[in-house]
Amino acid sequence: MSKVAVIGTGYVGLTTAIGLASLGHDVVGYDIDPNKVDQLKAGKLPIYEPGLDEMLTTALKSGNLKATSQLSEAVTDADFVFTCVPTPQDEDGSADLSYVIAASSAMKDLLKQGAIVVTKSTVPVGSASQIENAIGRSDVHVASNPEFLREGAAVIDFKNPDRIVVGARSTEVAQQVMDLYATIDCPKVLTSQPAAELIKYASNSFLAIKLSYVNDIAALCEASGADPMEVMHGMGLDARIGNHYLTPGPGWGGSCFPKDTRALTSIAAGFGIPIPLIDSAIISNEKAHKRVVDRVMQELGGSLVGKTIAVLGLTFKAGTDDTRESPAVAVIERLIGRGAKVVAHDPIVSAYSLAGLQVVDSPTAAASGADALVVLTEWPEFGQLDPTKILESMNGTCVVDTRNVLDKSRWQSAGAAFPQLKNL
Ligand SMILES: NC(=O)c1ccc[n+]([C@@H]2O[C@H](COP(=O)([O-])OP(=O)(O)OC[C@H]3O[C@@H](n4cnc5c(N)ncnc54)[C@H](O)[C@@H]3O)[C@@H](O)[C@H]2O)c1
Repeated sequence: MSKVAVIGTGYVGLTTAIGLASLGHDVVGYDIDPNKVDQLKAGKLPIYEPGLDEMLTTALKSGNLKATSQLSEAVTDADFVFTCVPTPQDEDGSADLSYVIAASSAMKDLLKQGAIVVTKSTVPVGSASQIENAIGRSDVHVASNPEFLREGAAVIDFKNPDRIVVGARSTEVAQQVMDLYATIDCPKVLTSQPAAELIKYASNSFLAIKLSYVNDIAALCEASGADPMEVMHGMGLDARIGNHYLTPGPGWGGSCFPKDTRALTSIAAGFGIPIPLIDSAIISNEKAHKRVVDRVMQELGGSLVGKTIAVLGLTFKAGTDDTRESPAVAVIERLIGRGAKVVAHDPIVSAYSLAGLQVVDSPTAAASGADALVVLTEWPEFGQLDPTKILESMNGTCVVDTRNVLDKSRWQSAGAAFPQLKNL
């Protein structure tokens, strides 16, 4: 079993640290934020991620996982150092590598001879050379092991990934990183650094393009009287298309797709390779947000000024507490921008700071006095709501279910009006 350091204990770092500890490795997690480290030491998960808290308890109990706010304590003995720090969007749309470079520089004099620094953060193609330069040690190796976890399903994705990708200058180094996952049975891709770096961006951008296409087709379905779910079902039966990622929604979001699509456009532009499909997907996504607001506005007589809109869901998808770049928030901002007051409920997020938005502790409280109800996150509990109870507390009957979680006929029987957009 190997000695592993994990730098950055956010969504990816926590999953990596706890996951590798569960495989028997000796893991030390380090974060620049001492509060997160203190929480981990106390056995508390700083994020909501189903199943990860139980794994944390087991990992701490077994002694395989420790947390520290001293970088030297994490790195000095480590055979492998995983970098799991943010790579946010820079002002020009490119990926901001400064956190990765800062983490690499900070560890350079602490690494033991022969250590392998493994990049899990999503980084542009060519970043490995910059990381090598920041470390500046010929006796230390750099590898790329992009992360593909889905928030809300991170544990499942760690234990049963679709694939594990590792890229390095030498196959021997890549194989050493891959050997950490020896007990995980899945396709394993040993490749070059540039390929590993690109696989991540190419995958995320493809998924974003797919979702934008689905949302555009769903709008066409609505305009033409077709049921979008029936159309998606019919499409998904074609094995070349597949039935995953065919669910219409209010637009895609989260901490990865928005920044990764923009970063890939920027990377491609740097190589003189335009990828207009990505630009179109981004434009289509903004239209998806707008369509939700237009639908509510149309139903409420063309203006949202002075109206109260109940919103169900704040996270970018169900199963997570993450609201970064959430389409729910993007839609709420547009509703508020049109003059509405928004009262929202989310099963996990109890507070969100935005002028014009009030977060309440139940769907009924959100619906109370509302002119319209908009479902923006596919939390399964929303499907269990009693439509009569919700509609009784509302001021209006307009219901916009962007996630298709409500039983439409049941809600219609209780008096809900599901408006169709006339001018898309
Ligand atoms: N969240 C996802 O679903 C996901 C999936 C795949 C890949 N990624 C990529 O993984 C990377 C991390 O994403 P995340 O969602 O885990 O981010 P996050 O913001 O949840 O966590 C990052 C952590 O790094 C810490 N940190 C920042 N600088 C540090 C430093 N110098 N030393 C130590 N710790 C430091 C922060 O305090 C934070 O706890 C990003 O590149 C992201 O694109 C994320």
